[in-house]
Parts: sequence; structure tokens; C-alpha cells
Amino acid sequence: MSVILETKELNAGYGPIHVIYDLDFKATRGEVTVVVGPNGVGKTTLMKSIMGLVTTYSGQVLFDGHDITNMLPHERTKLGIGYMPQVGNIFSHLSVEHNLTMASFIMKDEGMIQDKMEMVLSLFPRLKGYMKRDAGTLSGGERQMLAESMVLMRDPKIMLVDEPTAGLMPKLVTDVLKKLEEMAETTGLPVVVVEQRARRALEIGDTAYMMRGGRFTFEGNSKDLLNHPHLTDMYLGAIEVHDLKSVRE
Ligand SMILES: Nc1ncnc2c1ncn2[C@@H]1O[C@H](COP(=O)(O)OP(=O)(O)O)[C@@H](O)[C@H]1O
Ligand SMILES: [Mg+2]
Repeated sequence: MSVILETKELNAGYGPIHVIYDLDFKATRGEVTVVVGPNGVGKTTLMKSIMGLVTTYSGQVLFDGHDITNMLPHERTKLGIGYMPQVGNIFSHLSVEHNLTMASFIMKDEGMIQDKMEMVLSLFPRLKGYMKRDAGTLSGGERQMLAESMVLMRDPKIMLVDEPTAGLMPKLVTDVLKKLEEMAETTGLPVVVVEQRARRALEIGDTAYMMRGGRFTFEGNSKDLLNHPHLTDMYLGAIEVHDLKSVRE
């Protein structure tokens, strides 16, 4: 399988506030890549740097054969990077249907919009019954489905999903992640999922990255990390992982 998205020694932050350091990240076609780490370690900043929404100091972002490091966010969207932000990912005062049509604004072809609408509604059939409702009246899990559907409406080549389970009741967390896994399988889309809930996310991942303090502390097979006896200690930073090979063994 080939790499579709890559960052090389990427350093980025907010104006003078340096948040992520020397990140070499790869997402591969046909895979679910997960980025896990506690709150505030730079996961969202990595996603924003891939979208061109933060200050990049050095390094590169490569997507589908293009160097996109200096491209504007909307140009990256047009190239096919689908991004579901952690917050503000639906229009609460618009109907579900209107949210979906707004999301497809970059597509000119009416027929294609209809096709995409049918595709997302077959993936998330629950939304069918709610087309005329204001999005703000949906439950947390349903809003999540809508936000993901909105990204799919733009016919992306990859999907970046930032904390799909944030704020959800524990019993919904597995449902939402399983649904995301099913979506990846059905569509064949490469998916990058950022999650604070490491174990649940690693269950659906193929490749995993763990972050602490703006750096990766693990990179490798998701299930290896999930089954590692020191996962909790690594996650909490109680032990530092300098030798990645020892983690894979
Ligand atoms: N707009 C911003 N301006 C300045 N610092 C920010 C901004 N957003 C996030 N940060 C800082 O960047 C660090 C990483 O944040 P973030 O990438 O959101 O972490 P995560 O997604 O892992 O919870 C935090 O210390 C946070 O305070
Ligand atoms: Mg975040």
C-alpha cells in the first residue's frame, strides 16, 4: 500500500508558540491511521498543520504527489483532503439536509451531489429520517454522523477526523468508532483518526502514532501498541519510549 499523506520534519504552532516538533507522519492508502495522546499534546495542531491552518516554521506536507506545504486551506480541500475539525463541525441552525448540501459547495455537478447524498445516507441511514430537522437538535452521536457525512459529501481522497468521540457518552464511543471503521472499509478511503481515548481508537487502527509534548513517542502497528503491557505507562508519560524497536518486540 502506498503513502497518500506525509509530513516531513514538520514544525508548527500558533505564531510564536511552537507546538509540534519534527513530526514525520505517514498515512497509507487503504488504512486507518490513529494518532493518540492525552489532552494538549498537539494532536489537533498536527491536523491543522496538514490543512494549513497554523503557522508552519519548517518541514513539509506532501499529499497525493503534491508538495502542499505552502498551499491555502481551501486549495488543500480541493485537492481532496477531507477534514472534520474537533469543534464547530456542523451548522446547528440549519437542517440536516441543508448541512449536507452546504458541505458539497465545491462540487459543481448536481448529479454527483445526488450520488454522494445517497452514498452518505446509505452509510448513515439514521440521518434519513432527520433531513428537515435542525442539526442542533440531533444527539451527540447523530451530530458526529452528520459531521462525517459532510466531509464525505466533498468526495475526499482521505479523511482526517479529529476526536470523533469527544463529549459522547461512554456507551456511544465504541459505536461511533466502529461506524468509522465500517465507513473506511465500505468506501476504501484512507482515514486518520485523532483520539484521546487510546484503547478504543487503537482497536480500529492499522497504524498508530502516540504523541507527548508535540513529539511522537511511538509509531508502528496499532494492535502491537494496544497489546503492549506498558501502554498505560507510555500513554501517561510514566515511561518514555526512546527505543521504538523495543516497543514492537
Ligand atoms: N489557538 C492557539 N493559540 C495558542 N496556543 C494554542 C492554540 N491552540 C492550541 N494551543 C496550544 O497548543 C498545545 C496543543 O494543543 P492541541 O493541538 O489542541 O492539543 P490536543 O489536540 O492534543 O489536545 C496546547 O498547549 C494548547 O494550549
Ligand atoms: Mg485536540
